[in-house]
Amino acid sequence: MDASENSIIKLPLQFGFFKGAELSDFSNALSWFDWTLEGDNLTIDLTECQTANYQTLSLILLYIWRLSCNGSKISISVSGKDALNLSGAERMWKNMGAQGWYKVLRNQEINFDGTYTKPLFALRNSSDFDLILERIMKYTASFRLEYIQTMRYLISELLYNTLEHGSATLHGQRIPSLVQFNWYKRQNKLAFIIADLGIGIKRHLEQSYPGFENDSQAILYALRPQITGTKSVLNPYTEKNNAGMGLYLTSNIIRNLKANMYIISGKGLVHISPVDFTSKELSSAWHGTFVYVTIQLSNEDDVNLEKLMSEFRAKAMHELQNGNGLDEQIHYLNMRNYFGSNPVNKESAIWYRNEKLIPALEEGKTIRMDFSDILTAPHSFLSALIATPIKKLGLEAYRRIKIINASPELRETIDYIFEENTL
Ligand SMILES: Nc1ncnc2c1ncn2[C@@H]1O[C@H](COP(=O)(O)OP(=O)(O)OP(=O)(O)O)[C@@H](O)[C@H]1O
Ligand SMILES: [Mg+2]
Repeated sequence: MDASENSIIKLPLQFGFFKGAELSDFSNALSWFDWTLEGDNLTIDLTECQTANYQTLSLILLYIWRLSCNGSKISISVSGKDALNLSGAERMWKNMGAQGWYKVLRNQEINFDGTYTKPLFALRNSSDFDLILERIMKYTASFRLEYIQTMRYLISELLYNTLEHGSATLHGQRIPSLVQFNWYKRQNKLAFIIADLGIGIKRHLEQSYPGFENDSQAILYALRPQITGTKSVLNPYTEKNNAGMGLYLTSNIIRNLKANMYIISGKGLVHISPVDFTSKELSSAWHGTFVYVTIQLSNEDDVNLEKLMSEFRAKAMHELQNGNGLDEQIHYLNMRNYFGSNPVNKESAIWYRNEKLIPALEEGKTIRMDFSDILTAPHSFLSALIATPIKKLGLEAYRRIKIINASPELRETIDYIFEENTL
């Protein structure tokens, strides 16, 4: 949307990840963010929003940081009532100290200064990292000791991830990551979000692994042990190589704590609950990654971090020994890298089919063909490449041969070849 004059964007009456008591609805809140919006003067109007949650509201900060770096002048419209009479989103905005958003964006030394009970932080570097950890540990100081250690571990891993893999820069300006906590004392429940506008899990992982079908598949992959998008680069924050264990261990901790963790990156959502992992593609995307965690605290659970960690590491070894990595089971073909962006040479298609695809299928692998950057390819070329493998597999071909990133035109031709050969 182009808003050259003054554009007012209203926050709806309800703005949050709510849906029933347990399930969280992200699509609704995410559909509010218009990523095409630009303009000279933009006003975000908070006055009509009566019910919100702190974590969802804090995502607006990332959004306005991005708009601001893109050259828009942003104002936040509030009703002008005195602090005591504020309600809904306006009150929450003030409690978090969110009105300091501009200073925090422009000055690395400054962070938000809201009320102690609604901690909100920008995360840009290792001193922010230390500050956040220290403040959150104080905030949760009345929790049981074992909880505190476990929380510290959990939060550190997620903070590392956003710093190491999720940093964002727009027109030379660094957009910080964002961290927001809330402890619902009456329900004895802790909720927090760690969010960024970085390249997202799928693109980050694709630096090291073949293309993924969609965002949620990439997130599920990132949750496996020893999966990392970084290629043995010594990380400045940790002074170690990434082992690809962070999300594996945190997701196991979450399950053990009887907590819920939602990882959203692009359109992908993976929900880690005490009973299972579920994933889906959302109708609206977040242009980066965020992790939203809710933990039901209890006085009875005995969480022994050291014991848990050694159990999880043993479990990881076991999974790895049993060949749980996807790598061995997938044959990945990047069409452009192999055949060029205008694939026409039928001879080479036949060679690849006979020497690579058919043997891979015989070994029980799945074929993943990535058509990124290919606009079109002749029917006879595609048919030479995939018709025989499809015929051999029959209907199973739909499961074993995956086509990704194909343009609608290519998709149509490929679908036709699938149908023709599975009749
Ligand atoms: N905020 C993020 N933005 C983009 N990619 C991410 C983000 N968080 C995680 N990832 C991706 O998920 C991968 C796995 O994360 P994980 O924490 O398990 O391992 P790691 O950070 O690479 O290594 P380790 O945590 O052991 O140091 C990362 O390497 C990265 O590709
Ligand atoms: Mg990590």
